[in-house]
Amino acid sequence: MKKKLEQIKENALKEINALGGLKELDEVRVKYLGKTGELTTILRGMKDVPAEDRREIGSLANTVRESIETALSNKWADLENAQLLADMEKEKVDITLPSTGTKKGSLHPLTRFNNKFMEICVEMGFTVIQGPEVETDYYNFEALNVPKNHPARDMQDSFYITDNILMRTQTSNMQIRAMEKMKPPFKVVCPGRVYRNDSDSSHSPIFNQFEALVIDENIGLKDLMFMIKEILKKLYGEDIKIRVRPSYFPFTEPSIEIDATCQMCQGKGCNLCKGTGFSEFFAAGVVNPKVLEMSGIDSKKYSGFAFGPGIDRSVMVTNKIPNIKYLFRNDMRFLKQMR
Ligand code: DAH
Repeated sequence: MKKKLEQIKENALKEINALGGLKELDEVRVKYLGKTGELTTILRGMKDVPAEDRREIGSLANTVRESIETALSNKWADLENAQLLADMEKEKVDITLPSTGTKKGSLHPLTRFNNKFMEICVEMGFTVIQGPEVETDYYNFEALNVPKNHPARDMQDSFYITDNILMRTQTSNMQIRAMEKMKPPFKVVCPGRVYRNDSDSSHSPIFNQFEALVIDENIGLKDLMFMIKEILKKLYGEDIKIRVRPSYFPFTEPSIEIDATCQMCQGKGCNLCKGTGFSEFFAAGVVNPKVLEMSGIDSKKYSGFAFGPGIDRSVMVTNKIPNIKYLFRNDMRFLKQMR
């Protein structure tokens, strides 16, 4: 028995020593110390050992087990260390190499223009509001004095979702929402996306507008003109010239169209402005009293003016972008040029 134990110890230690991998190590552990392992089997047979020898054999068996366990755990640590060193060698990082550079984002040209415009309006005391892009026919048309079958609807080829719900075709819906909620006097500006079924190099089914609305006592066309000129000066510089043309929108009376020094040629005359030196900037007007009344504002006491420029065209001209679609594709090559 004693001999057998010594033999087991000797064999086990030899095998452990010769081991090359963690998996084999476990196999050796099972071979000697597992449930049916060689040493375990012997320990189980202790009851057959004559009583006078049991103590000695027992203690020897325990020492053998301890030696095997210690050898296993030492080998385990050695193998793990060796693995770690090998991994470190393989995954060496050369920290002296020059960096490949981090990719830095930048603001979209529409966002930049938007931010600039908002800053100017906020300085002038406007409150920025936002509202739904999916809108009811009432807010988008009806309450703006554009009843069903009104020819003005033709100018805004609409995406209807149901008979009564559509993608808003203009941010003017926010004029109504503001008048219903806010107590005059107030000044609001609403930037946002609008949708029309229209598509070519200068029209996109999605585009961007601002809506500005001022409601107060005794205000009218001259205040509107003054404010627009101030905004354009802040956006494009003191030298900007403006020109006014009469226009028509059912919700403003009178309605005007403001042209300003063409930003493509700085007024010299080019293809965009058809040689006139001016290009279209703002649609605007004095709020039709009928619209004020429909939204619960006393038109005898209050008047108002509004303007609603599309901003994509301005961004295209300032950045010399030939096709409006570039603004919405988010092509990295384009965006990088726009930094
Ligand atoms: N919402 C009009 C459009 O998209 C533009 C417009 C005209 C806005 C006159 C206004 C305004 O605020 O007063 O065609």
